[in-house]
Amino acid sequence: MIAQAKEQFVKLFGKTPLIVSSPGRINLIGEHTDYNNGFVLPAAIDKQIIYAIALNGSNYCNAYAAFNGEKTGFSLDAVHPTPGWINYLMGVVHQLQQRGYEVRGFDCVIAGNVPVGAGLSSSAAVEGGLVAALDHLMGYGLSRMDMALIGQKAEHTFPGVQCGIMDQFANLHGKKDQVMLLDCRDLSYTYYPFSFPDQKIVLCNSMVHHSLASSAYNERRRQCEEGVKVLQASYPQVQSLRDADMQLLDAVKDRLDELVYKRCAYVIAEIARVQQACIYLQQGNLTAFGQLMYETHDGLSRLYEVSCPELDFLVSLARQRPEVAGARVMGGGFGGCTINLVKADKVAAYTAFIQERYQQQFGIVPEVYVTTIENGVEVGE
Ligand code: GLA
Repeated sequence: MIAQAKEQFVKLFGKTPLIVSSPGRINLIGEHTDYNNGFVLPAAIDKQIIYAIALNGSNYCNAYAAFNGEKTGFSLDAVHPTPGWINYLMGVVHQLQQRGYEVRGFDCVIAGNVPVGAGLSSSAAVEGGLVAALDHLMGYGLSRMDMALIGQKAEHTFPGVQCGIMDQFANLHGKKDQVMLLDCRDLSYTYYPFSFPDQKIVLCNSMVHHSLASSAYNERRRQCEEGVKVLQASYPQVQSLRDADMQLLDAVKDRLDELVYKRCAYVIAEIARVQQACIYLQQGNLTAFGQLMYETHDGLSRLYEVSCPELDFLVSLARQRPEVAGARVMGGGFGGCTINLVKADKVAAYTAFIQERYQQQFGIVPEVYVTTIENGVEVGE
């Protein structure tokens, strides 16, 4: 992939590029907790966006997407939300400009194998890769956390998804064979080894693209904020759902919209689950860890309502199989992948089972990715 991107770049722009590899992410547990100041447990993976990039001495940015052969660009004097994938690049440039960092024109080729709309954060990979590339080329000296925050703000302002910090954080902080427990309130984080030689992390792609996802995502976020407002009226110490528990929530239940109650109940339980899951992880107790993943799925499906029949079906298949420790919908939801912890020697049989049953039910063969945990964004080959 790197060689291809480089070759394409030389062909198009006639010079030697800087190479930046920017991974997608998984999340073991802790979904929709990041924007509620809770915990998440993500990791960067072996699926990546590759940038081949160089400054061009002009005021113009040229970008070529290897996945569809589209060549497009924008002037640094006219950076505003624009339809299409270029929006993600423009969002990053805009954030840098907003913060007073000089951006100069660049040429780039973007290649990669992070499936789009599959819940693996291809957008954070595009954002994180560009901010790291520009940091290197322009010498800004940004920290990895600054870069993540810039990517997150770019996502808020250009595509308009009011996302939390998890995806951009994971993309930029990943470490091989380690998951990261991130406290989204103070942004402190701890690495935990996740190397179980007899287990694989298997992603099953429902092939449902979450087209409604951004508006529904923003709506979930608003519902959580509404819950916080009601809680705060009685309990001023509650700044976010991180500060609440079920007892407090139940005490204000009659003042809460039913949907808002369900959303908050899910988030409160999920924040607690991540902390418990980390204890199980340190004990090497994957069975108990996996049970929590199933609980998360139930919460996401019934209370947070971000699943869909296809994802519920995939998880119900997982539950039938003794080789699976746990499974659940991963990421924002409404489509994309489930994450499954599967016995390594049973992965082939499991994959065949899933693909056959899913095709019988929905007439489409789901892609299955056996993934590994890798480093975050890397600048240079
Ligand atoms: C998307 C967002 C993240 C996070 C997840 C759900 O991936 O970008 O910030 O909220 O959904 O956990």
